[in-house]
Amino acid sequence: MQKPTELLFKTQFEEDVHSGLTDFPKHLSSKYFYDEKGDKLFQDIMHMPEYYLTQKEYDILLNHTAKIAQLFASGNPKFRLIELGAGDGKKTKILLKHLLENNFDFKYQPIDISQNVLNGLEASLKRELPQMTVEPQQGTYFEALEKLNSENGSKKIILFLGSNIGNLLHEQAIDFLKSVQELMQKDDLFFIGFDMKKNPQTILDAYNDQTGITAAFNKNVLARINKELGGNFNLDKFLHWEVYDPESGTAKSYLVAKEAQSVSINKLNLLIDFDQWETIHTEISQKYDDKVVTWLAEKANLKIETEFSDVEKQYKNFVLRKG
Ligand code: AVJ
Repeated sequence: MQKPTELLFKTQFEEDVHSGLTDFPKHLSSKYFYDEKGDKLFQDIMHMPEYYLTQKEYDILLNHTAKIAQLFASGNPKFRLIELGAGDGKKTKILLKHLLENNFDFKYQPIDISQNVLNGLEASLKRELPQMTVEPQQGTYFEALEKLNSENGSKKIILFLGSNIGNLLHEQAIDFLKSVQELMQKDDLFFIGFDMKKNPQTILDAYNDQTGITAAFNKNVLARINKELGGNFNLDKFLHWEVYDPESGTAKSYLVAKEAQSVSINKLNLLIDFDQWETIHTEISQKYDDKVVTWLAEKANLKIETEFSDVEKQYKNFVLRKG
């Protein structure tokens, strides 16, 4: 097949959809789940009883608020609280409220890929915590990290909640952790959530709810291709499929073609054929154990200062420092 010129692609989305759907096996990145509709679906996921991650992390922050706040302010009391992938800030607000009420010297800098999500967050913070200094920034983690680098000054506390790191393969996770580490200084802290290995059934249920919200979330990447790139995917002709490998700790999401079909994507001038039962791999949600977290931190030259978890140790927040 002839390779199209670079000029064909106006956006990263176009380029990634083209390369992912012409590759074998087919794949699309989960970062494209999150348009306005996808943001809303993810909000719904966080409220599902099966999706235990949000509640577990919420409880950890609630049960250890004062200790976490003290840790943030230790050494040098003035800090910037920088959150990567802030979302609706529901969990972070527990900390923010405590920090504000106890007169900690800080400002909050939430970063998210979705401007839509940031606008909602900013509005709700203005209502709920009007005295707080908030400086939102739209961008990918990597764009955000660069901007972070340019603003020197007070101590940085970097929050990365929700086991968002789980979307990265270990090699990518190490690169990511390394780039954060390189931007850190001696006093800075990196507060990061990891979903831990647990009963495999619990994990499968979290990513395969009976109500079909996760299925709609997964299929939203196809809906986006239809809407933004002139595609004609029939979403009913695809099945959401989840697998979890308890050995590697990797949960993987797929879209599976229920029948043979061709799909056209006008803006890419592309016709894609699917065999019956052919797959599109869309997401990984990695689960961890202590050994793997220790290994990742070591590889990225970060040292583990302490950790917080629920009693069953199903979810952990690690506090990392530059190694
Ligand atoms: C936001 C990436 C942490 O992988 O658990 C939820 C996204 N995917 N249900 C996750 C997600 C399906 C979520 N992260």
